[in-house]
Amino acid sequence: MYKISPSILSADFSDLKSEINKIVEGGADYIHLDVMDGLFVPNITFGAPVIKNLRKITNKPFDVHLMIERPERYIDDFVDAGADIITVHQESSVHLHRTIQQIKNHGIKAGVSLNPATPIETIEYVLENLDMVLIMTVNPGFGGQSLIKEMKEKVMKLRSIIEEKNLDIDIQVDGGVKLDNIEEIKSWGANIFVVGSGIFKAKDIKSETQKYKEILF
Ligand code: DX5
Ligand code: ZN
Repeated sequence: MYKISPSILSADFSDLKSEINKIVEGGADYIHLDVMDGLFVPNITFGAPVIKNLRKITNKPFDVHLMIERPERYIDDFVDAGADIITVHQESSVHLHRTIQQIKNHGIKAGVSLNPATPIETIEYVLENLDMVLIMTVNPGFGGQSLIKEMKEKVMKLRSIIEEKNLDIDIQVDGGVKLDNIEEIKSWGANIFVVGSGIFKAKDIKSETQKYKEILF
């Protein structure tokens, strides 16, 4: 039920193969891939061709977080590249319901992400179609930022809605998750934890990944 999804955003991009192997050996459940277009967020990372090549390294599920404008234009490319979960931002897709269906029609999992300022109510009418909701606990665009404390209430509210409606939806948190706050965030009701700098800036990436795993169980 509890999963760690290390984000390679803070990894050494000149050596992604060995960086990914280290988190896999440390017990990573998913690999979190942050795609940024320089428009939706003020940063540019990588796209589907890079992910397609990374697919050769591991069979671990690829958790693809699209921080791009009008993500519906690229869903097919990311599915073809090997995504197992595609998460789009509520703020980036006008026809969000259609975009979610587009993802699900490929037989993979669909997630929707909410920026810190976006209320949960904005996804009320698509919630039952989702496999995951990603609550951003920082403003998206960069690794290494501090968790925004107001997101506690948001995660707790979402957990209670999911329980009230008896839905099977994961709550992922992304941004500022560290060894010293992950237990608290778990107590809010999140069950999938994205960790970027907390893992990749550590001296020993494999053993740091193991520490996150151990603390959850
Ligand atoms: C931020 C990305 C995150 C980022 C998290 O926009 O979506 O996945 O890698 O990094 P940390 O864990 O360093 O806050
Ligand atoms: Zn992310």
